[in-house]
Amino acid sequence: MAEIRPKPQAVSEATEAQIAVHWREEEYYYPHAKFVGQANLTDPSIIERFSEKNYPECFREYADLLTWDKYWDKTLDTSDPPFWKWFVGGKINASYNCVDRHLDKYKNKAALIFVPEPESEATISVTYRELYVRVNEFAALLRDYCGLKAGDRVTIHMPMVPELPITMLACARLGVIHSVVFGGFSGEACGMRAADSQSHVLITMDGYYRNGKMLDHKAGADIALETAKKEGHVVNKVLVWRRHQGKNASATPFVKDRDVWVDEILPKYAGTIVPPVPMDAEAPLFLMYTSGSTGKPKGCQHRTGGYLSYVAGTSKYIQDIHPTDVYWCMADIGWITGHSYIVYGPLALAATSVLYEGVPTYPDAGRVWRIAERLDVNIFHTSPTAIRMLRKSGHDEPTKYKYHFKHMTTVGEPIEPEVWRWYHDVVGKGEAVIVDTWWQTENGGFLCSTKPAIDPMKPGSAGPGMPGIYPVIIDENGQEVSAGSNKAGNICIKNPWPGIMQTIWGDRDRFVTQYYAKYCKDRNSKRWQDWPYFAADGAVLAADGYFRILGRVDDVINVAGHRLGTKEIESACLTVPEVAEAAVVPVVDEIKGRVPEVYIALQPGIQPSQEIIDKVNKVIETMIGKIARPKHVHIVPDMPKTRSGKLMRRILAAISNNMKTGDITTLANPDVVEKVRELVQGKETVAVADGPEDLKRFGTEE
Ligand code: WTA
Repeated sequence: MAEIRPKPQAVSEATEAQIAVHWREEEYYYPHAKFVGQANLTDPSIIERFSEKNYPECFREYADLLTWDKYWDKTLDTSDPPFWKWFVGGKINASYNCVDRHLDKYKNKAALIFVPEPESEATISVTYRELYVRVNEFAALLRDYCGLKAGDRVTIHMPMVPELPITMLACARLGVIHSVVFGGFSGEACGMRAADSQSHVLITMDGYYRNGKMLDHKAGADIALETAKKEGHVVNKVLVWRRHQGKNASATPFVKDRDVWVDEILPKYAGTIVPPVPMDAEAPLFLMYTSGSTGKPKGCQHRTGGYLSYVAGTSKYIQDIHPTDVYWCMADIGWITGHSYIVYGPLALAATSVLYEGVPTYPDAGRVWRIAERLDVNIFHTSPTAIRMLRKSGHDEPTKYKYHFKHMTTVGEPIEPEVWRWYHDVVGKGEAVIVDTWWQTENGGFLCSTKPAIDPMKPGSAGPGMPGIYPVIIDENGQEVSAGSNKAGNICIKNPWPGIMQTIWGDRDRFVTQYYAKYCKDRNSKRWQDWPYFAADGAVLAADGYFRILGRVDDVINVAGHRLGTKEIESACLTVPEVAEAAVVPVVDEIKGRVPEVYIALQPGIQPSQEIIDKVNKVIETMIGKIARPKHVHIVPDMPKTRSGKLMRRILAAISNNMKTGDITTLANPDVVEKVRELVQGKETVAVADGPEDLKRFGTEE
């Protein structure tokens, strides 16, 4: 068992601010000696090496983990803030770094191990040699059949199968910018993103297994193309990978000259070698769309050199990946975690990365631990939602299996200390070190985390800033909040780092407004010190320098570790003709952390009915995906509004979560609040709770 020591100054009495953030100081846990003995990062001088006095040159250490076609001239160029440039003048290819360069030493080692959802289907190992061959052949197809070249965009809408990283790496080989859309997103959501990125090629698969069923996935492609067309954009090629040799899981007919089975044209490129294109360090590698505080998802544009350096460095030091490890990150590649910590980071380090197709609890609560035992996984990476789910469905299940993790990650949402302890004691068997990594799609890689062999762990806290990352908490007046003050504020990063996105695809202004405008004191300044990055998360900084993340401060709902924009969901509701107004708020969910709850007011003369509720549910599913499915849809007589007509989501969020509504005297229609409360909670309930910090802050900027 890990050594557990009490914290030096145990807090006996909670201060007011602590009550406000519902947080008591947790005890430290120390890494197991066995872990420390083999860790990549044990030298505490890293803190000094990556301190402000050595910034930005410290990041050479990460970039030097890669193989460059041409070494760079300038580490950081700040001449056009906040559009920072990294490793300027350098040339590099991401596909070469994740594949070719490992062939000498590791060609027979598994790069990917694919675990299909049905347990009757055998796992498939793809060696580095095999990956090399497959990436080259598919790159040849993209180049010669589709006519794609460096700088073009391609939208990829695929499930968790080896063909997904193969497709991404084939794009990277040519310098084609990939935009992977999470496979669980609807065809419409995919089409909107394909139009925004102006992709002329969509890559998909006929079907995949989810919860014991084979889903028709290709059906989404037709909807995607129609949606893109409505947006004024034409996608003219659809490449369809096949899940099972000789079968077709999709009922939708192929459109002539547009849709094509990959396995029918790929043999033409058998054995073709495509030289990796040396790309500028600053050339975009990929786009990843994410929700922000306006309706439209934004395409986070990530650069090649800086991004790859950052994910390689953090995979080595924080994930503690060695080429001998079997590493399993349970995220989906369609999210940033999958890009950085299933594909690019681990493969850059020649790791073996496990891909699981399906649902973690299929066919039973032991599945994850059976996979871990069978493949002898020793590094495990997942989200609090998955941990809560596995804990609920099989509390003692991990004890029945003989796997041993040395290292585990939690990412994507705040983790409750009780859940953290289960993860540590039961899943990690008291042997595995845990890192709670805080970061975002925009960031490329981790921003806060403990250094696993150096820093003690503290349940519920992400930990200090990463090497070379200097986070700070700033209050609404622009003042820095000091460590140990127990005051929550906005977490910001003082300095640029190589993994930060370059811009929002096609929208430089929005990039500046969204992330930098809030705390930039001088827009003409060329000093990076004047441009703190605003993450839109609330956080508290403890006296020991550990950050505890409270959740979003904008109108984004973090569902099971995935960001959904309230405005996107509201726009979907408004496409139902009977709906006059819609408001979406987060509500606490035992498993998923937060889920959306929908309030709608109907057009004059329309009577409330179950049918309307069903329509609203359906439209959210088709326009966004099942992930956005609301907990409830409430039909209300009217929405609480200010005198100037602004919809008060804060009040609805309070009602949904049984919290105090606060001051409502400024409303134009204060009496509606009681009516809505009765409708949602029934007559007897009295709001008692103060509620979690993110919900208290929700919608306060309106
Ligand atoms: C939240 C996921 C608490 C946070 C990598 C952030 C976290 C959003 C943590 C980004 C963590 C991520 N503890 N909250 N360890 N990690 N978050 O873009 O609110 O999908 O802003 O990136 O998830 O979600 P995204």
